[in-house]
Amino acid sequence: MAGAKNLSDRTEYWRLLDAAHHIHPFTQTDALNREGVRVIVRGKGIYIWDSDGHRLIDGMAGLWCMQLGYGNKELARAGFEALSTLPYYNHFFKTTNPWTVELAAKLATILPAGHSRILFANSGSEANDTALKLIRYYWNRMGKPDKKLHLSRALSYHGVTMAAASLSGITPMHPQWDLPLPGFVKAPAPYWYGAKQAGYGDMEEDEFGHRIARETEEEILRIGPERIASFSAEPIQGAGGMIVPPATYWPEIARIVKKYDILLHADEVITGFGRIGDWFASHHYGLKPDIMTMAKGMSSGYQPISAVSLGTRMGDVIAAADEELVHGYTYSGHPVASAVALKNIEILERDGLVARVKDSIGPYFQSRLREIFAGHGLVGEVRGLGLIAAIELVENRNERRPFPKEGGVGKICRDHCFRNGLVMRAIRDTMVLAPPLIITEDEIEKLLAKAKRCIDLTAKDLKRI
Ligand SMILES: Cc1ncc(COP(=O)(O)O)c(C=O)c1O
Repeated sequence: MAGAKNLSDRTEYWRLLDAAHHIHPFTQTDALNREGVRVIVRGKGIYIWDSDGHRLIDGMAGLWCMQLGYGNKELARAGFEALSTLPYYNHFFKTTNPWTVELAAKLATILPAGHSRILFANSGSEANDTALKLIRYYWNRMGKPDKKLHLSRALSYHGVTMAAASLSGITPMHPQWDLPLPGFVKAPAPYWYGAKQAGYGDMEEDEFGHRIARETEEEILRIGPERIASFSAEPIQGAGGMIVPPATYWPEIARIVKKYDILLHADEVITGFGRIGDWFASHHYGLKPDIMTMAKGMSSGYQPISAVSLGTRMGDVIAAADEELVHGYTYSGHPVASAVALKNIEILERDGLVARVKDSIGPYFQSRLREIFAGHGLVGEVRGLGLIAAIELVENRNERRPFPKEGGVGKICRDHCFRNGLVMRAIRDTMVLAPPLIITEDEIEKLLAKAKRCIDLTAKDLKRI
């Protein structure tokens, strides 16, 4: 890569090329092109640098994926070795490769009990799309072709393919594409902080968890349980606003889906690989999913790779089928991505990083967040677990009342963050943090000092302090 001066000289050139040729995800192209894009050129640890020489703390670990942070040489070497040895081969022709089988076997040791069969894909969306196909196939094999509906939740995010977007409950994801497709139904989200505004009154968290579970059961009965194939859920909702469910919610939901013979699909794309202090959130909540999807932290984002794991119930049926499984991607189980993911899991294990999130750095992060923002005039709630957290900004704390123009204040705050060297994501008016798992206490202090400054600046803009 060229030197710093050179980079900065080339920034305008890259901006022009980007504006002319590159359509960005989840971005208003025209507005971005007027504003000018930021060119990110390198990263180290929890930091990234842009081509103008600004250093930012990446408080979002990329898109919740850089478990090991930037610049990890062991991951780079693992990728390089696989690239130099077998840059590509597929699994279609009765063939496999050492990295992919070892990765599948390694995953089986950290997944919930019984999840010993794995299919690979390249993104969270693809994994979820695959999961829905496998769910349909399972019920077809079981002679229950009427079990076809996929139940998921309001404010859920499961990706952007036609099926994954249909499964998602963030409604603005639908109209541009005439979604959802038929066959997708929704249950309410266990979003306790928003409960008062949604008309539930001043309900205690535990009571609210029961209430949402009961409403989910009512919805299942209204639709007809014999028609419902699966219930898909992120154990902790991420992109829909970082919703940590009340403690009463998951035990009830697990009971209900079992009662009505509905397959439980845990989407652990964000919550997997140590993010919340367990290998998977299913461990934390004691869930026994029939099928699970994972991506992101699986390779610390160093390579695109995702997976679907099958519990015994589905795995036995699908593996014993007397016909070809008509599914697979050119890059399913890519050797280089598999090698990097395998090394990534080995490092997480060897360095005790998952236990560290559970026992030390996670609790430190959570308690400092709560200390720093306790009583802040703009902050309604701080919530989170392990190294994932949300700071919900509200107009009125007592009423838990959001700002009238949803998302405006979040954007102001996010822009302050960028200007002050911090990447903190705004989901509507909720600020979200999910730093790399390697973050130190000292770095957490630096990150939170910036977050506080930016929320103070936002309050000042709103004339709230
Ligand atoms: C819970 C969840 N599922 C699925 C996805 C989609 O993953 P991808 O963007 O890799 O397709 C995401 C992405 O953020 C996610 O948060």
